[in-house]
Amino acid sequence: MIRPMVADDLPGLVNSSTAAFANLRQRLGLTGSAPSPAPRRKEVGEAIVRQLLDLDAAGAWTALIDNSVVGVAMAGLREGLWFLAQLHLVPAYQGRGIGRRLLEAAIAYGGQAKGMLLHSSLDPQAMRCYQRAGFALEPALQAAGQLRRRAVPAVSGVHPGGPEHLDLVADLDRAQRGGAHGPDLELLLGLGAEVFIIDSGPHRGYALVQDEPRIVAATDAATAQALLWTALAESPDGEVGVQVLRADQQWAIDVSVRAGLQLRPTGPLCRRGDTGTLAPYLPHTALL
Ligand SMILES: CC(C)(COP(=O)(O)OP(=O)(O)OC[C@H]1O[C@@H](n2cnc3c(N)ncnc32)[C@H](O)[C@@H]1OP(=O)(O)O)[C@@H](O)C(=O)NCCC(=O)NCCS
Repeated sequence: MIRPMVADDLPGLVNSSTAAFANLRQRLGLTGSAPSPAPRRKEVGEAIVRQLLDLDAAGAWTALIDNSVVGVAMAGLREGLWFLAQLHLVPAYQGRGIGRRLLEAAIAYGGQAKGMLLHSSLDPQAMRCYQRAGFALEPALQAAGQLRRRAVPAVSGVHPGGPEHLDLVADLDRAQRGGAHGPDLELLLGLGAEVFIIDSGPHRGYALVQDEPRIVAATDAATAQALLWTALAESPDGEVGVQVLRADQQWAIDVSVRAGLQLRPTGPLCRRGDTGTLAPYLPHTALL
């Protein structure tokens, strides 16, 4: 049975998600268990799910079998831009059309949306579902590793952002992706994310850092590069990542390589309808 999600489903969602992604790692031939997320990352992930359930209840769907949560889909809708934050199904019930029905329910929430965005996993079943649902798939890399701090160049004109910069951030999001992040950005800032800004003359942009660079949006590639360097340098020591590097984001691939990070495949960015140019732009993987 597929029905609208309720708050009581959330503990079951954590378990079904863990099972689905552990199985996906096996199917993709990845050895070892998935690194367990740092407590703070877990806290952010749970807060995103709770906020989506509060603000986008009509985009949140649960599949139940024998009263147990076996899968979910969760989508958000902001300023006419729809995004998918969650889709999974426990392995035992995959391949029976349930995932596709969960996705259809979440997509119906975006019925009037002008654009739709999601970051797929590398699961062939997931990519198939998205392609058949009308999304264009844009292959992508991710970069990960220890930042080579001595490679970080001096950048000028970048400064920390505050509440007075949120209008600029919203304008940049609207220009790049057709809609602002609104309450999602506020949630991340409330959970300790930091914003860095360039606003000198026509060169404008922002980077959001939460343990690692999460979003970069700018008017031009040079501005985006300065912001990505800052976002990397402001990330805590340890493993950092730069996610969803598409073919038209060579500026970010260039920074990632010069920063000493390693490139590897990640799932495609999937777009449907009008999602802006998305360039130069690095999307949040869940809130795009
Ligand atoms: C993605 C996921 C939710 C899909 O759910 P599902 O119930 O297994 O999917 P469905 O049965 O509805 O359909 C999946 C499609 O993949 C196809 N498929 C099945 N096995 C496949 C394989 N090995 N390779 C490619 N396609 C495959 C199915 O035939 C179906 O396509 P069709 O409708 O054209 O026949 C589920 O597989 C999952 O949880 N995967 C792991 C977590 C994940 O990656 N989530 C996506 C995050 S973005």
